Amino acid sequence: MKLVQGLATTQCSCARNRVENKQMSNMNKRENVKTQYANDKNLLVRVNLHAKHSTNKQGFVPWLFERYTFAEDYHILELGCGNGGQWSGRIEQLPAGCRLLLSDFSEGMVNTVREKYSPHDNVSFAQIDIQSIPFNADSFDIVIANHMLYHIPDLDKALSEVKRVLKPCGCFYCTTNGNGGMRVFLREAMKRYNLDTQVFIKDWSFSLQNGADLLERYLSSVERIDYEDSLAITETQDLIDWLMSTLSIASYSEENVRELYDYFEEIRVRDGTINIPKECGLFISKK
Ligand SMILES: C[S@@+](CC[C@H](N)C(=O)[O-])C[C@H]1O[C@@H](n2cnc3c(N)ncnc32)[C@H](O)[C@@H]1O
Repeated sequence: MKLVQGLATTQCSCARNRVENKQMSNMNKRENVKTQYANDKNLLVRVNLHAKHSTNKQGFVPWLFERYTFAEDYHILELGCGNGGQWSGRIEQLPAGCRLLLSDFSEGMVNTVREKYSPHDNVSFAQIDIQSIPFNADSFDIVIANHMLYHIPDLDKALSEVKRVLKPCGCFYCTTNGNGGMRVFLREAMKRYNLDTQVFIKDWSFSLQNGADLLERYLSSVERIDYEDSLAITETQDLIDWLMSTLSIASYSEENVRELYDYFEEIRVRDGTINIPKECGLFISKK
């Protein structure tokens, strides 16, 4: 049994409207985020869990691409692109003349996307922190920042930078999770064993619940679209691997992880699958 793999290891920029939600947690402490995303190993483990065990068989990325609107000659910037998974097989589908800049603040991630996508002449790469985007105002038709805004220490800076680099009428797409999804389930499981639940914070700093309010301070026409999904996990090890890919749990003992494995495995044997709710979705906003 493979158990403890990786164990060692509407626009306004006035000051009075600054985004107040600046709680620091393991999710947005710079050093933690840097370690977590030094390369795409942890990300791949988590993507694997969702790819194998999600009940919505359409898949999040195909669903997203039904909602993105690209037109000829668009300049597209993705921030916090990770391993650029969403572009796999889709760059060639971009309308003629589109140029895509894939960026992340992790050098490792930028190297990964460069290796994957450098054969495409219309794709370029850069190491960029969303809080300080090194481009002139009005540079991009589209900016994308998926599942990354909850890692950002200063959301005010990040969102004002996104707004600045968007062309007039440019569009900002960002995905995130809701507060009621799988982390609630996992937090409850871990509490049973008095384990550190800090990585499964109660409220994300940028969530489906508060995202529209935060975005409306900088952008307009904010629309929230939820993706209906859940997990029905048939292999307990995949869930353990997911847990091991998160930061703070990496310091847990082998015994703790074994206890969690046994707890989840009991559920799987009893119910046939480990059923976990998911909450995630997309915000579409205009400059
Ligand atoms: C959960 S991953 C999401 C990756 C990808 N967008 C996706 O949806 O699969 C978060 C990514 O945001 C990046 N990131 C974290 N803080 C960042 C920042 N301040 N500026 C730019 N990227 C950042 C991380 O390096 C990581 O690649």
